[in-house]
Amino acid sequence: MCGIIGAVLIRGQVAPLIRQSLKRLEYRGYDSSGIATVEEGRIYIKKDKGKIDDIHRRLNFDLLPGVIGIGHTRWATHGPPSRSNAHPHIDCNNRIAVVHNGIIENYQELRESLVDRGHSFLSETDTEVIPHLIEEALQTTKGLDQAVGKILPKIEGSYAIAVLDTSGTSLVCARKESPLLLGLSNDGFYCASDVPAFLPMTRQIIVLEDEEIACLTTQGATLYQLSPKGKLFKLPPKSPTTVQWTLDMAEKGGYPHFMLKEIHEQPRVLRDTLRIKKAELQKFAEVMNNHQTICTVAAGTSYHATLASRYMFSQIAGRFLHSVVASESPEIIDTSLGDEAVIIAVSQSGETIDTIHAIKDLKRQGCTILVITNTIDSSITRLADSVLYTQAGPEIGVAATKTFVTQLACLASLSICVGEITGKQTHEEARHLLEELNQFPELLQSIIRNQESIVKETAQHYVAKPSFFFLGRGISRATAMEGALKIKELAYVHAEGYPAGESKHGPIALVEEGFPVVFVAPNDRTRRFILGNVMEMKSRLAQIITLCSGDDERLAELSDSVIQMPSNLSNAFSPIGYVVPLQFLAYYAAIQRGYNPDQPRNLAKAVTVL
Ligand code: M6R
Repeated sequence: MCGIIGAVLIRGQVAPLIRQSLKRLEYRGYDSSGIATVEEGRIYIKKDKGKIDDIHRRLNFDLLPGVIGIGHTRWATHGPPSRSNAHPHIDCNNRIAVVHNGIIENYQELRESLVDRGHSFLSETDTEVIPHLIEEALQTTKGLDQAVGKILPKIEGSYAIAVLDTSGTSLVCARKESPLLLGLSNDGFYCASDVPAFLPMTRQIIVLEDEEIACLTTQGATLYQLSPKGKLFKLPPKSPTTVQWTLDMAEKGGYPHFMLKEIHEQPRVLRDTLRIKKAELQKFAEVMNNHQTICTVAAGTSYHATLASRYMFSQIAGRFLHSVVASESPEIIDTSLGDEAVIIAVSQSGETIDTIHAIKDLKRQGCTILVITNTIDSSITRLADSVLYTQAGPEIGVAATKTFVTQLACLASLSICVGEITGKQTHEEARHLLEELNQFPELLQSIIRNQESIVKETAQHYVAKPSFFFLGRGISRATAMEGALKIKELAYVHAEGYPAGESKHGPIALVEEGFPVVFVAPNDRTRRFILGNVMEMKSRLAQIITLCSGDDERLAELSDSVIQMPSNLSNAFSPIGYVVPLQFLAYYAAIQRGYNPDQPRNLAKAVTVL
């Protein structure tokens, strides 16, 4: 998730305005920044690794000349944070500059063919193919807008781009599956990833739709529809809407808290994560397959993702995984594991000291270290033999939400890949599983749409209860544990996440009339046992809250409150969907109890003490 901005001013100097806008987009990424402007047939660029203010102190962005400019604040996806990987990127002749938010899936192929045709590249980014493609297109088309239109159908994946060239008369922007808005004012015309970028300049906004292109000049914004063949058809002018948000609201996308915004972002970041290249997964999967022992190490929510992955790997790939809590790893992992073991360390921040210590220790023992993280260049990546990045973008709420579903997506994709290598899945079966997995962004969208208000009411109903059980069997045990962790962290309510089958071996002693028990009960092979556990709790007069398939009438009938999940949701990956209502439950329980869910007491986003 990066932030982009483009501006065409009627008068004045654009660079200071772009710098300040980038500052307001920094929540979208902050590992490098850059600005390009154009004046008198020349493009000027300043960019570097680091935060915008630090770069500005060193380079002084404000000195860039001109009234047309583009800017970018980066959350690295392809290539580590560095000056060369920072945007804007240029063509061979320094005549075109581009900023981009999104992921170009086929960039490798595009890059190779551009190199064959004599183009030279300066970065490791996927974005850099764009200015080179435009460079070629400009040889046969008239005008920057036509050239941009011509190349976009060649790009697979997602993009929001802003492009300028040395003609210095216009700025062209376009989007597909990445956000892009236009801002209109009496002083100039703008495009940006999000509303905060514009707020001091204008509140008049137009939302650009997928496959629409806008050409901004000092005269205004002209909108085009892009045809699949790259032709542009002029659209009638759209009337702008007026945003009423304050800056603080705008940074949170209009939501009252980052956590709620991040829950709502899950369909999109999941889609981005599911775009991880098969070749990258394959590399990981082969390493896993070549080792006798596979252990995962992680902490907190990341540990719950690894716990869910045990079930995926065993059922889909036929491989047994040892899931170890990072802080326990030195005590539990046999020192003789050596090079027979591969360790998968999972950490959103990449800075959790327990996880770092564990893998340092295991590395010393000769184990191979594979890392799944959300944070490029984090400490953990430097200890890894190989890294896979989730594509959740910065998570600001202290509670992990969107990073959890992206970790699950990564691990699920890997389990399918390993399953194909081990032969547990035929090619056809693996393809089918992937199809099921790829349905989750849509499914999450519908869960969010249909369940948020129901869960809010459920939270209201149970908010005064001092203690909860969250129970699940099989893979849902991990979902239950994550649900309990969330409500503990945010609403400061005692909650135990437990394997449902184990609850009768002790925890049931706590159950008395009205005790709330949340069952995570998808319609998988554990359901018939879950029914028994529900009956056990009911007969002790517990209040039953069930998350189950929408067509599960029996469970609905037995429950005091039901949260109905889509019945077509794949059981193999059910935590990706079933965790969402539990995130809402914790969020609304916190709100109703008067706590700020973004900054729960005693917790830190990255725990860097042992
Ligand atoms: O950055 P990491 O994934 O390594 O963090 C691990 C835990 O500290 C983290 O998941 C923690 O449990 C969160 N507060 C969960 O909401």
